[in-house]
Amino acid sequence: MFVSEDLSVNEKNHLVIGSNDTVELAKEFGTPLYVLDEELIRKNCRIYKEAIDKYYDGNGLVLYANKALCTAYTFKIAQEEGLGGDVVSGGELYTAIKAGFPMDKIYFHGNNKTAEELEMAVENGVGHIIVDNIYELEMLNEIAKARGVVQNIMFRIKPGIDAHTHSYIRTGQIDSKFGVALENGEAFEIYERAHMMSNVNPDGLHCHIGSNIFDVDPFCEAAEVMMNFAGDLKDRLGLEIKKLNLGGGYGIMYTEKDDPVPYDEYIKHVSEVVKTIAAKRGLNIPFILMEPGRSIVAPAGITLYTVGGIKDIKNVRKYVSVDGGMGDNPRYILYESEYAAVIANKAGDAPTDKVTVAGKCCESGDILLNDTMLAPAEVGDTLAVLATGAYNYSMASNYNRIPRPAIVAVSGGKAKVVVKRETYEDLIKNDVF
Ligand code: LLP
Repeated sequence: MFVSEDLSVNEKNHLVIGSNDTVELAKEFGTPLYVLDEELIRKNCRIYKEAIDKYYDGNGLVLYANKALCTAYTFKIAQEEGLGGDVVSGGELYTAIKAGFPMDKIYFHGNNKTAEELEMAVENGVGHIIVDNIYELEMLNEIAKARGVVQNIMFRIKPGIDAHTHSYIRTGQIDSKFGVALENGEAFEIYERAHMMSNVNPDGLHCHIGSNIFDVDPFCEAAEVMMNFAGDLKDRLGLEIKKLNLGGGYGIMYTEKDDPVPYDEYIKHVSEVVKTIAAKRGLNIPFILMEPGRSIVAPAGITLYTVGGIKDIKNVRKYVSVDGGMGDNPRYILYESEYAAVIANKAGDAPTDKVTVAGKCCESGDILLNDTMLAPAEVGDTLAVLATGAYNYSMASNYNRIPRPAIVAVSGGKAKVVVKRETYEDLIKNDVF
């Protein structure tokens, strides 16, 4: 009935996440409120871990991509589940350090890391830095030299694969700001250069072809290209690639229209390609890394809002306004992303009313769902938007000086605040009066 398997309806006709009544959660913690189902996050982590065990004999590591949702809490869960972490900025790295996350399991990304960020990474013993370009390579080699260490690195390669997803989140093609291309020899040259440097150790390859992808084929094609490139590096430079990082990007079900491939399936097909090319090119099977973000946390999250004004503009449109919007979920205004929603206090009622759910920001494009079907809404209802666990809180803003909502994690019928609601005082704390 719902896009997420962990949602149900109780005897009060209320939406339930895990074993928690969402109407009660809204009452206790206020709205807007992000709610995360911890059991589902853990289950999703295990699907990937088990796939590595099954298809690569455990010779690999799942890195949770923190850009999807980066908090002390998510680092704790990832650590407990035995995952590593992909971080993409000094801020994400700082959160990992503060959370006590093992630094050797951190892979540091970014297409324009600053000298300060690289210093911070080297100083804290980050396991791998995914170097984006020649400028960064030279800077990093100097930083590592000054500290007398050899930093493990890999480069982000554009494998030349065009994944069928929104153009803003497609990254594997040559016309991309991320990484170095194969077609024009850039990728080969940068490995050759790094191979001669004293304080970096290029022991791996990385690619990430895009996000929210629903086909297996582009992942298989990318793996084939990468393994063949590993073969070229061995043949031409004598450089043996020990680690292959295939990025994230697995699609999820936001609405009934989405039909994601089970994650285990992607990994199975990709592993066949990796093994075939390894045999063909005389390579050892590399240590496999993958970086799922969205597919681990998105399905486990919902956002609860309170319905305010309802505007039925005859023969035009019916707007249902809620107490959040593009500040806590900018994905509609950025990508026209679609979501499913349900009135949490009427969760079993038939969705008979076509409405547009609007946020409270001073912006016409501040929409959460356009032309969606809901049970008839009334002022004071609790609206739940589903599958908001990824790229919602992490992309939230304070536009219109609206405080960011709290995040509550539920597990075994218990709920705990894992990120506090911002206060007005938080909003002005950096203002100089
Ligand atoms: N690894 C790398 C190097 C990435 O750039 C990304 C996402 C991931 C892993 C995780 O991909 P996932 O498994 O979450 O698809 N804000 C956009 C998504 C941007 C994704 C950027 N990179 C959205 O809301 O759809």
